[in-house]
Amino acid sequence: MPLMNAVQIAQPGADLVMVQKEIPEPREREVLIKVEACGVCHGDATARRGQFPGLAYPRVPGHEVVGIVAACGPAVTRWKTGARVGVGWSGGYCMTCDACAEGDHEHCHDSLVTGLSVDGGYAEYMVARASALVSIPNELSSVDAAPLLCAGATTFSALKQSGATGGETVAIHGIGGLGHLAIQYANRLGFRTVALSRGREKESLALKLGAHVYIDTEASDAAKELQALGGARVILCTAPHMKAISALIGGLGTGGELIIVAAANEPLQFFAVQLFRGALSIKGWAGERPADAIDFSLRFNVMPMIETFPLKRAAEAFDKMMAAKVHFRSVLTMGS
Ligand SMILES: NC(=O)c1ccc[n+]([C@@H]2O[C@H](COP(=O)([O-])OP(=O)(O)OC[C@H]3O[C@@H](n4cnc5c(N)ncnc54)[C@H](OP(=O)(O)O)[C@@H]3O)[C@@H](O)[C@H]2O)c1
Ligand SMILES: [Zn+2]
Repeated sequence: MPLMNAVQIAQPGADLVMVQKEIPEPREREVLIKVEACGVCHGDATARRGQFPGLAYPRVPGHEVVGIVAACGPAVTRWKTGARVGVGWSGGYCMTCDACAEGDHEHCHDSLVTGLSVDGGYAEYMVARASALVSIPNELSSVDAAPLLCAGATTFSALKQSGATGGETVAIHGIGGLGHLAIQYANRLGFRTVALSRGREKESLALKLGAHVYIDTEASDAAKELQALGGARVILCTAPHMKAISALIGGLGTGGELIIVAAANEPLQFFAVQLFRGALSIKGWAGERPADAIDFSLRFNVMPMIETFPLKRAAEAFDKMMAAKVHFRSVLTMGS
């Protein structure tokens, strides 16, 4: 059997290690993808931490995958060899259960999560269900497209479904892979865009990306600063630190929403009465519909800022992301 390079986690808490594995073969409704680029998302830390339904080891992480279809299973009709495709968090639906037969994929009995319940894109090849694929337009390079599949899809959909309308104040908390795209989306959607980050290191880049106001959360009370701007209609929280998120509730204006996409293994801390003033709400949001984010990004010139790393340096790319030192998304490439 032919072999490929892949970076995997052998067991919970283990390091990312490059190994040689057999190139997987696509089954009935799957395609084999020759991976060209894979973003390194903070969500990949879940593959290392463990405790996710269906997560077994060894596991190859990576759910911002772009590549070329190299082979198709016998039941795949929509995709052809040579097509450039992307795969995000959603590893697709089984297409055989009762829910799928009725077109109700949300209730599929066997939906997959890329890089967690099945191997992902930190590898030269991966298999994916055909139902998980989106087409990548020619205008987008693979390294630029990859972050849109999760970071872009999550933040674009979170802002779009929020109650904010043009001219209202939208704050983005945390400027990493998700946050730097969220700033651009908020700007292009017509919101008065406020970037919240620790220190001043990211200030000039945040303003360049489209933030109208920058707040250093270490030097000032961000909630007070937001109130001085009239209160935020939305605060989109991408920084995985629940204490820092809890402290932002006071920055919401009337009817304001705290939308949390960040995941951290700790509880939020707030008093319910904090929500009474101005009928505030808190909600969680998980990414969806990468094709919409790709389409919008191309139309309105939203592009990720990336640092590329060859696959063999995946561990370094991951550590740099975890230390919030990347400007702003690490993307793995398969060349040397
Ligand atoms: N809901 C979903 O569907 C979904 C999808 C993808 C990712 N996620 C989650 O979203 C979060 C962000 O992902 P990402 O890939 O954007 O991560 P990232 O690139 O590591 O960026 C996170 C940013 O949060 C800030 N931050 C990090 N640690 C912090 C701390 N201890 N206190 C305060 N701020 C901190 C940093 O920004 P500053 O330096 O600007 O402070 C950092 O750049 C993660 O929790 C990830 O698991 C959720
Ligand atoms: Zn992600």
